[in-house]
Amino acid sequence: MSQENRATFGGRIGAVLVAAGSAVGLGNIWRFPYIVGENGGGAFLLVYLCCIMLLGLPLMISEFSIGASTHKNAVGAFRELNKRWTVVGYLGVLASLLILSFYLVVAGWTAEYTLHSFLANDVVRSTSVEVQTAAFNSFITHPWKPLIYAVGFSLATHIIIVLGVQKGIERASKLLMPMLFVFLFVLACRSMMMPRGLEGLQFFLTPDFSKLTTSSVLAALGQAFFSLSIGLGTMVTYGSYFKSTTHVQGTAVRVSLLDTFVAIMAGLVIFPAVFSAGIEPGAGPSLVFITLPSIFATMPWPALWSSLFFLLLVVAALTSTISMHEAGTAYMEEEYGLSRRKAAWCVTLFVSLLCCFCSLSLGAWSWLKVCGLSLFDAFDYLTANIMLPLGGLLTCLFTGWFFERKRFESQLYPEGKIGRLYPVLRLLIRYICPIIIVILFADNLGII
Ligand code: TRP
Repeated sequence: MSQENRATFGGRIGAVLVAAGSAVGLGNIWRFPYIVGENGGGAFLLVYLCCIMLLGLPLMISEFSIGASTHKNAVGAFRELNKRWTVVGYLGVLASLLILSFYLVVAGWTAEYTLHSFLANDVVRSTSVEVQTAAFNSFITHPWKPLIYAVGFSLATHIIIVLGVQKGIERASKLLMPMLFVFLFVLACRSMMMPRGLEGLQFFLTPDFSKLTTSSVLAALGQAFFSLSIGLGTMVTYGSYFKSTTHVQGTAVRVSLLDTFVAIMAGLVIFPAVFSAGIEPGAGPSLVFITLPSIFATMPWPALWSSLFFLLLVVAALTSTISMHEAGTAYMEEEYGLSRRKAAWCVTLFVSLLCCFCSLSLGAWSWLKVCGLSLFDAFDYLTANIMLPLGGLLTCLFTGWFFERKRFESQLYPEGKIGRLYPVLRLLIRYICPIIIVILFADNLGII
């Protein structure tokens, strides 16, 4: 596609909404609470917030700038700026597709929950954790049902991708964000009023540093990158659709704030209810799917609340799957000269196949293990704890040391006046972020 007819996102708000649509998703509402639960609560939250501010934000600014200054997909962008760094683009596209594969499985679960809440079956009205857990387990281990939902989700993503960047993504995001905020707020109030709710609040907000290990710091970093959609070129791809008037730093700050706000709200919804229902906070990926229904069941009209909430979650997940899919599609389209439709099909078929394997590895094909983890958990661990931090490290090193300084600055300050915080940003990108990531890696590999 020539650069003249490449699509753009409309205006400033459009860019923020679309990027926030990518960032806000299951990472905030499904993954964040269970990772916080597994890593001991309050202290982890504090480390997470530091990761967002010190590492996430500078990295998002870098990724946007790389995309916006080249108007190319992740691979093409790195190639244009410096051929030797093209591999970072490839790593990114590969990681996007791996994340998309297990993400689609969870997105499929949310679609199933929407439907069964809508049909108001008995499980929706049950306040018993045992009933909710059994229902969840029997669904995710079913030999074919979750596959249908996951592949269906993949096809829905495909359709929006083919309809085009602006129409599909921008409209969905504009509608969803405000609704999601209001909903989370109402649920948080409800959840905190449940018996023993305050204990949950305390778990989430009071730091207990004795529970913190270096592997949980790496998990916090991985979660921060996952939640902000950075470290693998998704935001490079989105940055490439920015108009030349889009303010890169302002957009990154707004997107990070929105994303963090939603994650914290999700924590305020989940943890009081977890303690109230006597669920183990470290229950893992099932946490949200057993906790939320038990909040709804205590409210009037549980089926209505539940179906609305899961529907919002479906849309939030959809705006994120679109962004991962777009990273792959833009790559196929621009690097191999395919039509958008063909490029999108290549990605859809590939991830649909992989997502079936991921889903089966939780049930019928439980022998499908990598290093003792099910394929699903292995993809989750490999991408969030290894590929994202590695991609982030390489992107920081690239931006700090190899991205032509004038070109980077002209993205950040199109009017030519360098901002006051620029030296801090440069210090973070050149030294602090890479050093922190290297130390965390080395420690987790047992080198130091
Ligand atoms: N950030 C999204 C979420 O929180 C998931 C996501 C979309 C993502 N694109 C990504 C994660 C790119 C890592 C990289 O749900």
